[in-house]
Amino acid sequence: MSDHSGYSNRHGVASPDPSPARGRLPRQTCPAPLAGERFQADYISLLAHQLITPLSTISSSTQSMIRRAGQMSESDIRSRAEKIKRAVGRLTEIIENILAHTRATSGAMVLDVHDFDLNGMVRRVCDYHHDEHPSHPFEVAIDPLPDRYKGDPLLLEQVFIIVLSNAIKYSPVDCPIRIAGDKGDGAIAISVRDQGIGVLAEDLPHLTQPFFRGRNAKHMPGTGLGLSLASHILDLHGGSLRVESREGQGTTVSIILPTVQTFNAGGGI
Ligand SMILES: Nc1ncnc2c1ncn2[C@@H]1O[C@H](COP(=O)(O)OP(=O)(O)OP(=O)(O)O)[C@@H](O)[C@H]1O
Ligand SMILES: [Mg+2]
Repeated sequence: MSDHSGYSNRHGVASPDPSPARGRLPRQTCPAPLAGERFQADYISLLAHQLITPLSTISSSTQSMIRRAGQMSESDIRSRAEKIKRAVGRLTEIIENILAHTRATSGAMVLDVHDFDLNGMVRRVCDYHHDEHPSHPFEVAIDPLPDRYKGDPLLLEQVFIIVLSNAIKYSPVDCPIRIAGDKGDGAIAISVRDQGIGVLAEDLPHLTQPFFRGRNAKHMPGTGLGLSLASHILDLHGGSLRVESREGQGTTVSIILPTVQTFNAGGGI
């Protein structure tokens, strides 16, 4: 989910309906069980590829450090180490996504509900991500968000990280990302607006299906599990995810939460 922040490591989620993703396979006559096997095989190879990319970065960076030990300047060492750190973060993210998806599909995701500071959580995650990606200007306007809210703090933090990480990943550096909070009569909204690649209109209805990746996003790293996890977590809180986007112009993803919650009891994706 998301680029990894070292924040909450506990999440799980669900997948609405795996069949639509199956529909994205190349058209070919294939009996139903085989289509399922093919779907799995495609995604295993996709995940393997996603794992190999950061591993190669780690391998080549460490090899060059070993080869050039003693001749590297401090800034060379720092830049290699940062590359390795980013690759490890990416690996952690992929593995956490897979674990969370497994937990959610087995119905094992259970909320641990507390009163917590929603406003403080959003601010803290923004600060952390801004430190990690200083070239993305952040505009943060979240005063209306309550400092006391009842929900699962770690899972809701995970939702926000997933959405914010997408805004960072799918928009060019230097383009501002606006994080806004709003509170109405029955609902709270946390919205993240970017000016990035946007989503094709025909892809929009599928974004919360597990493993779904937009056609214009496939050249970038990702498992396609983030928004499905986010959507499941919000569903358990009686909330939802709203996505507005135009290809090439940017995306606004809003996390909608009820002011008074009706918690849904678990269940898988
Ligand atoms: N802010 C955004 N701008 C453009 N496209 C987006 C944005 N957020 C999500 N998407 C689209 O939705 C798809 C699903 O997002 P999701 O977060 O579930 O998966 P991902 O980013 O591909 O991979 P990961 O599981 O690593 O997060 C993305 O592949 C992308 O096509
Ligand atoms: Mg994502």
